[in-house]
Amino acid sequence: MIDQFTPLIEINAAQLHYRVGGAMSALRGNPPVVKAVDGVSIVIRRGESVGLLGESGCGKTSMGRLLLKLEDVTGGDILFDGQSLSTLKGADLKRYRSRAQFIFQNPFDAVNPRFTIRQTLSEPLENAGIPPSQRQDKIIAALELVRLSEPLQYLDRYPHQLSGGQLQRVVMARALILQPEFVVADEPVSMLDVSVRAGVLNVFRDVRDRLGLTAIYISHDLALVRYVCERTIVMYLGKVMEDGPTEDIVHEPLHPYAKALVAAVPVPHPDQSHDPLPIGRGAPDPRNPPSGCVFRDRCPYAFDRCAVEIPQLQQAGTRKVACHLFDEAN
Ligand SMILES: Nc1ncnc2c1ncn2[C@@H]1O[C@H](COP(=O)(O)OP(=O)(O)O)[C@@H](O)[C@H]1O
Ligand SMILES: [Mg+2]
Repeated sequence: MIDQFTPLIEINAAQLHYRVGGAMSALRGNPPVVKAVDGVSIVIRRGESVGLLGESGCGKTSMGRLLLKLEDVTGGDILFDGQSLSTLKGADLKRYRSRAQFIFQNPFDAVNPRFTIRQTLSEPLENAGIPPSQRQDKIIAALELVRLSEPLQYLDRYPHQLSGGQLQRVVMARALILQPEFVVADEPVSMLDVSVRAGVLNVFRDVRDRLGLTAIYISHDLALVRYVCERTIVMYLGKVMEDGPTEDIVHEPLHPYAKALVAAVPVPHPDQSHDPLPIGRGAPDPRNPPSGCVFRDRCPYAFDRCAVEIPQLQQAGTRKVACHLFDEAN
């Protein structure tokens, strides 16, 4: 039975610290870890659509990989439907692999170029033990779901014979063919021509709503997140800066980083390009993040306390915010 209010996913202080560099880099004084995800706590309810927003390198893909158990947490824990992903094994892990799906950024990387579309879509069915006689119907249904009209014409084609937009729909069809409950879409339109983005996003929204999917939509682009998600989580250098209803963040961002992201998108729309961030490009080296608040060296409001104390995520109206400005206000 589907209960709209119980959490599907509980992320408790999750960490993903990558070991990097060898002895040479240690000698140069570089710490041997990148804290790609560093103490993230998020609760996601069934059927919720959550945008993960932030500049390149802030840990969005790493977070997605943890959620799909393509990586294991190096600290903290992630529960899916009450069960810890760290301990999933054997048949339970296999079941999780069909309940939760990843839609990758570049459709051309996500498929085997030597597989026809039929083979591409048969693979997950075969892995799940669906008999050959039932596969074609499921493949056609999945292609119809992503609104590829006359789906039969695609079955014997190869990826290079499709446009980027068509192939991204095939990638979506493959993610949906086993009827997952949870989908992580990692910048699914960033490699596509601007003119076809809205079409692919509409399919994503439509399918998500029709199937009642719980979805995480990863993007560096607030306009796209706004188009797709009711809730937005703003990340910066592996940490959550702000978490709340998308429209509230768009109309009144609280965290200085969220303010900068919003200021860069004057009229949010998926077809529009936008100005650079008013705080300047280039996040600091994630191996040497600033002390205290990781955003402080780009923050126009930083004060003494920001250098010495890590701000905790706390409730501020409809939002949660990790910023000392809001500690002060309370
Ligand atoms: N396999 C890896 N090994 C080492 N560092 C990595 C690895 N994958 C990602 N990183 C680093 O982790 C940080 C977060 O990366 P990523 O999650 O890809 O961010 P985003 O998706 O927001 O661009 C970056 O500094 C990146 O260089
Ligand atoms: Mg990424």
